[in-house]
Amino acid sequence: MKCLFLGDVMGRAGRQAITEHLPRLRQEWRLDFVVVNGENATNGMGLSADHAKGLLEAGADCVTLGDHAFDQRDMLQFIEQEPRILRPINFAKSAPGKGYRLFEAPGGRKVLVAQVLGQVFMKRAFDDPFSAIEPVLKSYPRGGQAQAVIVDMHCEATSEKMAMGHFCDGRASLVVGTHTHVPTADAQVLPGGTAYLTDAGMCGDYHSVIGMEKSEPMRRFITGMPKGRFTPALGEATLSGAYVETDDRSGQATAVRMVRIGGRLETAAP
Ligand SMILES: [Fe+2]
Ligand SMILES: [Fe+2]
Repeated sequence: MKCLFLGDVMGRAGRQAITEHLPRLRQEWRLDFVVVNGENATNGMGLSADHAKGLLEAGADCVTLGDHAFDQRDMLQFIEQEPRILRPINFAKSAPGKGYRLFEAPGGRKVLVAQVLGQVFMKRAFDDPFSAIEPVLKSYPRGGQAQAVIVDMHCEATSEKMAMGHFCDGRASLVVGTHTHVPTADAQVLPGGTAYLTDAGMCGDYHSVIGMEKSEPMRRFITGMPKGRFTPALGEATLSGAYVETDDRSGQATAVRMVRIGGRLETAAP
C-alpha cells in the first residue's frame, strides 16, 4: 500500500497548501491512504468542523488531532458525527470521539490508524501512551485484521517518540511523531518492519516560529512580556510528512521517505 502522512496543518497557509497539492499528489503518487494531522488548521488552535470538511474533501482519508483537539468548540459535536476524525486515545476519559479506527482502503484492504499523546514536557498530564496503545495493537494485528497500521505519536520529546517507535516495531507499519512542527531527518525502517520518523513537521509557513508569525513569539522570548496574540504566519506553506510503502500481506513497511513540498523546505519527492 502507498500511504502518505502529513504533519500538523497550520492555519490558512497550511490549509491552502493541502488544497493546492494533495489532490494532485493522490493521483500522481497513486496513494491508497492519506492521514493528515489537523490540530492547528483553524487559526493555529484546533480544527473547526468546516476546516475538517475541507481537509477531507482535499483527499485526507483520516484526520488526526492532538493536545489542541477541542480548542474549537464545534469539534466536540462534530467528532461524534465524523468517524474519519480521531483524537488521541489518552486525551481524557470523558472526551468525545475515538482515538483509533479501522478504515477501509481500496481493494478491501483495512488500515488501522491510532493516535496517542506523550507525557514528557506536555502542558497537561496525560495517561501513559504505551499502555493506551497496547490493547489496540493487540486487537488489530498487522498482517491480520489490518493490512497497514499507522500510529501518530503526538508529543514534544524526541526520546519518547523513539521509544514508542521501538515499542510498536513489528506491530505497526508506520510510527510518526507530530506536535513539534519541525521535521526530523531520521526516516528509517526499524528491524521489525515498522517505518519510523520522529516528527513529520508541519504543513505551514516555515518563515515563522513553529508556524506562528514570528514577531510576538520573539518579543515574548526576548522581553518576557506578551503584547499581542499569536497568529499563524501567512507565507507559502511547505507540506511536510512521510511517504510509506507497505507489503499488503505482512503489513511491513518496505520503504519510507520524508516529504517536503512547496515553500522554504521543498527538498524531495518519491
Ligand atoms: Fe501542532
Ligand atoms: Fe500539539
